Amino acid sequence: TQTPLVILNFKTYIESTGEKALQLARALEEVSEETGISMVAAPQGADLWRLSQEVKIPVLAQHIDPVEAGGHTGSMLLECAKEAGAAGTLINHSEQRMQLADIETVIRKTNAEGMNTVVCTNNILTSAAAAALNPDFVAIEPPELIGSGIPVSQAEPEIVEGSVAAIKDINPDVRVLCGAGISTGDDMKAALELGSEGVLLASGIIMAPDPKQALLDLVSKI
Ligand code: G3P
Repeated sequence: TQTPLVILNFKTYIESTGEKALQLARALEEVSEETGISMVAAPQGADLWRLSQEVKIPVLAQHIDPVEAGGHTGSMLLECAKEAGAAGTLINHSEQRMQLADIETVIRKTNAEGMNTVVCTNNILTSAAAAALNPDFVAIEPPELIGSGIPVSQAEPEIVEGSVAAIKDINPDVRVLCGAGISTGDDMKAALELGSEGVLLASGIIMAPDPKQALLDLVSKI
C-alpha cells in the first residue's frame, strides 16, 4: 500500500505567492523528509519553474487549458507546464471548472506525456464521471466547504464514502483524495478512515501562523 498523499493547493493567496511559495514548498519538503509522508505542491503557473528547480518534492500545475500549441494568449499549455517541471496537474477545481470533453482531452494528453492528473469533483456523480476518464486521482471537494474551515471528513463524510465507492466501482485504479476545510490531524485521520488515500488542502496550512507546524500536526495522527 502506498503512503497517504498530501497535496497543497497554493491557489492565489499572497501567503503562497512568489518568494512565499518557495518557503511553503520548502516546508512541504522538510515535513515529507521528516515523516516519510508524500507531500506535493501545486503553485501558480508563474512559480512552477522556480519551485521545481528548488525543491525535490513533486510540483503540480493548478490547471491546464484544453488547447494545442499555437494562438491561445493567456492559456496554460501542458507542454509548457511540463518544461517548467510540473509532474502533473490539478484540473476542474471548483474555482476553475471545465467542460467534460475538455477534462477528457487534458487527461488524455497528460497521461500521454507521462504526467499525473488530479481531477477535482464536487459530488458523488461527478466523481463517478471523472473516474471513467482514467485520471490518476479524483479529489472530491464539496464547494460549500472549501475555505470554510469546516472539514469535509466531519461535515459530509457520506460524500467522501460515496465517492470512494462510486469511483472504485468504475475504475479501481483511480486513487481518491478528499478536500475542503481540512487542517488538523483529526481531519486527516478521519479522511483516511472514510477510504480516501490522501487530502487536497489549502487555507488551513497556507494561512497558519507556522505552516510547517501545521503540516506536522496534519500528519501527526496517521
Ligand atoms: O484544492 C483544495 C481546496 O479547494 C480546499 O481548500 O482552503 O478548504 O483547504 P481549503
